[in-house]
Amino acid sequence: MKDFLSITDYTTEMLKDLLRTSARLKSLYSVGGNDLCLTGKVLAMLFEKPSLRTRISFHVAMAELDGGAIYVKPEDIGGIGKREPVKDMARVLSRYVDGIMARTFEHSTIIELARFSSVPVINALTDWLHPCQAMADVLTMQEHCEDLKGLKIAFIGDGNNVARSLAFASAKLGMKMVLATPPGYQLDAESIQKANQIAPGTVTQTNNPAQAVAGANIIYTDTWVSMGQEAEKQKRCADFAGFQVNAELLKAAPPDAKIMHCLPAYRGLEITDEVFESPNSIIFDQSENRLHFQRALLKKLLS
Ligand code: CP
Ligand code: NVA
Repeated sequence: MKDFLSITDYTTEMLKDLLRTSARLKSLYSVGGNDLCLTGKVLAMLFEKPSLRTRISFHVAMAELDGGAIYVKPEDIGGIGKREPVKDMARVLSRYVDGIMARTFEHSTIIELARFSSVPVINALTDWLHPCQAMADVLTMQEHCEDLKGLKIAFIGDGNNVARSLAFASAKLGMKMVLATPPGYQLDAESIQKANQIAPGTVTQTNNPAQAVAGANIIYTDTWVSMGQEAEKQKRCADFAGFQVNAELLKAAPPDAKIMHCLPAYRGLEITDEVFESPNSIIFDQSENRLHFQRALLKKLLS
């Protein structure tokens, strides 16, 4: 596989292989070892939106594998697809670098980049998907819950890019995901159908958060206002009332259910500070695992 655009492009075995490599390299680097497999290789990192975790963890992963990374803001290049067509950018960059990582608004932009580039293209989040996040999340679940098969994940909040990629990962890896969203914010029917066709996992939706967290091993949430939706903040916050991950909701969940959030988090909105900081929270393990998954992904695609 040349690119990493969506979890649906990968087989279960390919995803498990990436998880195994992530865990192996995580152990290796934790004892001071290294795997200098990307000597002389350079990754171009194109961002149309802000980023802390994705940008820094990709840069660190490239450095640790003995490669380099170039961070490109839209204003540096006159905007993605504005100063020149995306297909021209893709072909020019392919002559310079060994891989392209991009965070774009439109999902079609990354598809176009991948179509016209001869080097691997990695999806670092679009409005539609966030596959690197979902794979780091699965790595984290595996560390905390041993067996992924049959694991119940309750996603509370917005049927967004993070939820969609997690649904695909759950389906591929045999987990049971239940999304609880307010009416109008569920995942599109096509994505749900696609996830359930994948099997062995299942993905279902409800408007009842308490029902979703009952029996859950993992309770996951994300912002109610994704990047690019800032103008809808007031309406969204009103619509999502009752979908906060808080102590009251957790009364309906098993006491050992783990709390996850891709970050950045907005305390007092989608999650309370109390739950965020609770002993059951594995949020910073998730953040750390962005580095470990992406190191494995870069090794796979660029070496
Ligand atoms: N979770 C995540 O992708 O964070 P950043 O937006 O900071 O990269
Ligand atoms: N759904 C969020 C994820 C941030 C990592 C967004 O798109 O802004």
